[in-house]
Amino acid sequence: MQNSPGGPGTTETEFTANFQSVVGLEPEQTSRVVNDPTNNPPQTLLIVKKPRAMERHKGGQIFIIGDDADRCLTSWLSGATDTASCMTALQVP
Ligand code: HEM
Repeated sequence: MQNSPGGPGTTETEFTANFQSVVGLEPEQTSRVVNDPTNNPPQTLLIVKKPRAMERHKGGQIFIIGDDADRCLTSWLSGATDTASCMTALQVP
């Protein structure tokens, strides 16, 4: 399936591209987080620090620590995805 920006649903190609951009940003540290999240918590990663504004981010603060989007991403990185938070975070206000 192709990329389909603005289309009705996310295609497999788009899921794969999203996954690759997340894991490709800091591959070594992402491996440490996924393999041992207790000693390498998700907030050591830019993908968590930037939207929390713990690190300079041109897009500003997108996540508040513990909100649904933050819980979705950090739980996924820790190997126990909080699907309820993910489903709530997906809702457009
Ligand atoms: C309205 C939403 C957002 C806007 C407009 C936005 C905008 C930007 C911009 C302009 C940059 C490049 C400059 C900089 O690093 O400050 C950036 C970098 C980045 N943003 Fe965002 N952002 C948004 C949401 C998010 C979210 C939800 C996440 C994570 C879940 C995120 C993670 C990152 C990361 C990891 C980088 C660094 C990328 C790299 O170094 O290659 N951003 N963002």
